[in-house]
Amino acid sequence: MSQRGKFISLEGGEGAGKSTQIAPLVAWLGERGISTKVTREPGGSPGAEEIRTLLVTGDPSRWSPVTEALLLYAARRDHVDRTIEPALAAGSWVLCDRFADSSVAYQGFAYGLGDHWVHALHESVLGSFWPDATLILDVPVELGLARAKTRHGDEDRYERMDRSFHERLREGYRAIAAHAPQRCTLIDASRDAEAVQSDMRAALVGRFPELGR
Ligand code: TMP
Repeated sequence: MSQRGKFISLEGGEGAGKSTQIAPLVAWLGERGISTKVTREPGGSPGAEEIRTLLVTGDPSRWSPVTEALLLYAARRDHVDRTIEPALAAGSWVLCDRFADSSVAYQGFAYGLGDHWVHALHESVLGSFWPDATLILDVPVELGLARAKTRHGDEDRYERMDRSFHERLREGYRAIAAHAPQRCTLIDASRDAEAVQSDMRAALVGRFPELGR
């Protein structure tokens, strides 16, 4: 039986540059003999992708924060059951563009449900299932929003939230990193993509020494 893979999540506010960083990270892991499954949230399984459409399109006030958190966790449970867990069991490393820390940061801190509330929901739905490592890309709000504006078509519901929402979001991510240093690394993503990639790799080597060999 192959050894269980590691579960790595990438996190950050709007325009932090997560998606740009995934391909070079996959290539680097591949050079170390590691097969990866790249996935994303909300989404990552057929059912969860359907729920994603409900979440990322339409009016910013379309859902109450509680309803939104429940939709996210319905999608997350399906994603874990059908995509993440099978890949880990087969020995692949899973690289996930957003996971539960997005709910803590967006729904818990930025919408104000509270991080304890989100943690309690998480525990009911997924028990102690959390990533093995989380890389949080941190950028000043102004820079992130300017970057985000240049992509995304109609999937812009969250980018249209007001500025204070994005400030709370950034503070939320910084609090998450401070409270879970054994799992999370905060990375300064205001620099060029190569410098960010290099810090991401160094953080993973620090957590998984087998990558440095
Ligand atoms: P994306 O832009 O990274 O594809 O993510 C879509 C949006 O979903 C993004 O603005 C953040 C939001 N989101 C939450 O609010 N809570 C969550 O738990 C997740 C996974 C995403």
